Amino acid sequence: MAAIGLFYGSSTGRTQNVAEQIAAEFGPGEVDLHDVRKATVDDLAGYDVLILGTSTWHWGGLQDEWAVFEDKLPAEHLKGKKVALFGLGDQKHYGDCFADGVGHLAARVRSLGAEVVGVWPTDDYDFAHSAAVEDGHFLGLVLDEDNQPDRTADRIRTWVRQLRDELAF
Ligand SMILES: Cc1cc2nc3c(=O)[nH]c(=O)nc-3n(C[C@H](O)[C@H](O)[C@H](O)COP(=O)(O)O)c2cc1C
Repeated sequence: MAAIGLFYGSSTGRTQNVAEQIAAEFGPGEVDLHDVRKATVDDLAGYDVLILGTSTWHWGGLQDEWAVFEDKLPAEHLKGKKVALFGLGDQKHYGDCFADGVGHLAARVRSLGAEVVGVWPTDDYDFAHSAAVEDGHFLGLVLDEDNQPDRTADRIRTWVRQLRDELAF
């Protein structure tokens, strides 16, 4: 079992692709990948760190399988844990609810006693509103594969380096 468990939900494969890139950036054997479509809540047990990734759908909603899995998240596997979040969205067509899913997951895991780490600057994005923003930062890495796919690799590299510092990994 790896030290980091990464749980993602993805409707058209983009968040899955990003999850695989994040795992590759950490390195072999450091991250176990779990698709929430197939994961059970007991899969959350035993990791030092959790990374949760979702896309945003339906004007500010969580990705479909995440919406189901979120309801089952158990406090026993989240209380006192450090949780890093990432999310995909489309700032051009959904600029009023850009990557809101990250904000929803942050609220949920905090309500279960987890600490959110890995906040990310909002510079270099152009949007009107996002539930993922708190105190001028996104509550996790936000990626826009619809409009800024060329920035994804750099953003992942920087965020993973930042997480390693924050988590002393
Ligand atoms: C019908 C539809 C609704 C969407 N709703 C939102 C939204 O509310 N907010 C947002 O930021 N992105 C929204 N998106 C953009 C997706 O989040 C984005 O394309 C993402 O990369 C999809 O990732 P996935 O394939 O892993 O699910 C929407 C896309 C579609 C097609």
